[in-house]
Amino acid sequence: MLARNELELRKFFAPEFIFGCGALELTGRYARNFGLRKVLLVTDAGVTGAGWAGRVCGSLDEAGISYEMFDCVFENPRSCEVTAGAEVYHAAECQGIVAVGGGSPMDCAKGIGIVSSNRRNILAFEGIDLVRMPGPPIICIPTTAGSSADVSQFAIITNEAEQRKVAIISKTLVPDIALIDPLPLTTMNTTLTVDTGMDAFSHAIEAYVSNASSPVTDLHALQAIGLEVSALPDALCAPGDLQTRYRTMLSSLHAGLAFSNASIGAVHAMSHSISGLFDLTHGRANALLLEHVVGYNYIAAPDRFDEVARTMGLRPAGLSGHERQQALIRAIGDFRRSLGIGETLSEVGVEPGDLPELARRAFVDPCMATNPRRLKPEEIEEIYAAAL
Ligand SMILES: [Fe+2]
Repeated sequence: MLARNELELRKFFAPEFIFGCGALELTGRYARNFGLRKVLLVTDAGVTGAGWAGRVCGSLDEAGISYEMFDCVFENPRSCEVTAGAEVYHAAECQGIVAVGGGSPMDCAKGIGIVSSNRRNILAFEGIDLVRMPGPPIICIPTTAGSSADVSQFAIITNEAEQRKVAIISKTLVPDIALIDPLPLTTMNTTLTVDTGMDAFSHAIEAYVSNASSPVTDLHALQAIGLEVSALPDALCAPGDLQTRYRTMLSSLHAGLAFSNASIGAVHAMSHSISGLFDLTHGRANALLLEHVVGYNYIAAPDRFDEVARTMGLRPAGLSGHERQQALIRAIGDFRRSLGIGETLSEVGVEPGDLPELARRAFVDPCMATNPRRLKPEEIEEIYAAAL
């Protein structure tokens, strides 16, 4: 007999995407296919320094597409960066957007797109399906294997006045095309590799246990988990190896297709809350929370978590429920420590006195709606305390 959720009607979003070596060289051709003559190129200093923005510019030049560069994007992009980018977009009379970078430039670019077409501040779109007018054509070229903003209907922007991250979820945020090339991953340093990898790993686990999961998203989520646990350690040993980077990019793609359609959960809700107040990357915050949230959530979906454990290579058969829960918590903790992430939340500056406010913010984050266990603010506080 089919489980109830397998009979429900579901809707799925994914952009057209090109996956493989050389994809980024197709930027000019796709911009031309969209009928664009001038685009806003959104990127950041790191990506420019590594030469990837230049490669994309070369492709645009070859196709006869002119561009205006906007590279004033920083980690955890703020609403003022989106506003500034939209002003440049209009002043330069652009017709479309090309984003080159990790989650920050891509989220900022998506924000610039909907601000340009709706003429409202980006913060007005916080929540689910509140964008009325779609933005101009947008081409995303990811240079990390983690955020999957290139295939997702999510954009995360920081409300700097309130020091909190705002989740905007809308099908208008799905890019028109993603050019997914593993080559830019070869210049990522160790920290960026593990932080973005743990972000993808968190997407996959949260999507698999989400109360909006479905058979389609399950396939992608489990593929992502299996690939990540094997490929991420390899990528640390051989950062320049294209085959290995290809596998981490594939994992990130699977995780993105899963979470964009099944959504995520408490790890992300709690991590958004932390990154709004503390100077911590998104992936690192997820990594420090993941095993603690999984431990707390386990009783709400034990069969699902057991499948996560099996996909990670554990053998939960024959163990009691408590033993299976503890084995999974241990395995996730061991995985992150094996990647060099050994710190706790207190070591990055979080203090016990911060927890009530962090929990209050996480409680109202839209990602909490699909967490498999309904959590009260005091329970969220308990999970933060366990990660201190
Ligand atoms: Fe994430």
